[in-house]
Amino acid sequence: MGGYTLIEHAPLGARNTLRVAARARLLAEVRDAAKLPELLDFPAVRGAPRLVLGEGSNLLLTGDFDGTVIAMDTRGVQVEQEGEVARIAVAAGERWDDFVRWTLGQGYAGLENLILIPGTVGAAPIQNIGAYGAEVAEFVESVEAWDTRERRVAVLDRAACAFAYRDSRFKREAGRYIVTAVRFALPRAHALRLGYAGLREELARMGVDRPAPFHVAEAVVHLRTKKLPDPAVIGNAGSFFKNPIVPAAQGEALKRAQPGLAAWPGADGHWKLSAAWLIEAAGFKGLREGDAGISNRHALVLVNHGHASGGELWALAQRVIAGVEAAFGVRLEPEPLVVGGP
Ligand code: EPU
Repeated sequence: MGGYTLIEHAPLGARNTLRVAARARLLAEVRDAAKLPELLDFPAVRGAPRLVLGEGSNLLLTGDFDGTVIAMDTRGVQVEQEGEVARIAVAAGERWDDFVRWTLGQGYAGLENLILIPGTVGAAPIQNIGAYGAEVAEFVESVEAWDTRERRVAVLDRAACAFAYRDSRFKREAGRYIVTAVRFALPRAHALRLGYAGLREELARMGVDRPAPFHVAEAVVHLRTKKLPDPAVIGNAGSFFKNPIVPAAQGEALKRAQPGLAAWPGADGHWKLSAAWLIEAAGFKGLREGDAGISNRHALVLVNHGHASGGELWALAQRVIAGVEAAFGVRLEPEPLVVGGP
């Protein structure tokens, strides 16, 4: 059968960066997105639960998946239009960081703050990946997806994607769209985003006083490598909790009670609070229960020290959520998709 491979009772340990040793009843490795409709019509697939996977870097499997895991292994980068702004169509299965490095090598700007984020290009718009003062949404022209409800290819422009902080239409209408490609609009030059804490200092340390996009990328690599545990060394899914957004009055009251709280007042009557600060202040940084833990390098990161099950990791995460709520009255939400059996 061309275009995809089916594997029964497939191990997923190498397909999620938290390294949870769960299995899928059926795994479909898709190399040709045009074959998705055929695959979805397959008797064993139709009607069963579905989980679409890129690199599994934003996923906690709490148990075996009793359905079909669709792994998007498609490849391809196509420059559709050159010029001051390039239009580049990229297959969902391409590795995000490889693509970012390629754009910088071609002299395109925009994605430099988003270097070294694990995961695939197709996953990037789903949770609107962001780091160091930039979000992917700004550079997405459109997203191509298979619309499982309407049974047709859909092309959603940026507005239709309804991007927000670590959120999009693809997340809110979970299960409806299978992202097959992303079209980016990347400028040759743009105003660099240097405002995020630590970035200017890192550039100064590097001795760079007139930064180009690749300098910014290098600075971000230094900062991320210093702060975040490497999933190749210890299982993790990056930030496990979103930074909570609360009404300004609640943010102000918390800041009065906890002057050290890291928080960012927004223009819209809301504050974004540092979940890492809240978790650390509640005493959970570096905590370990069996092989499940909270990183001692960054309090937002749930880590698997070896053989933690998905259930053990989820139990620890829930303990953190309950502890932070008891201490500060703020309910944290997981950033990754949490899915699986009991
Ligand atoms: N902090 C602590 N304890 C810690 C770590 C941080 O108190 O252990 C406090 C510090 O005061 C720091 C503040 O939290 O100033 C913010 O920390 P950091 O700059 O590391 O950023 P973050 O808000 O914790 C977010 C993203 C990251 C992204 C960084 C940099 C979310 C959920 N996380 O983390 O994204 O790399 O900003 O832009 O928005 C991811 O989503 O997987 C991810 C890693």
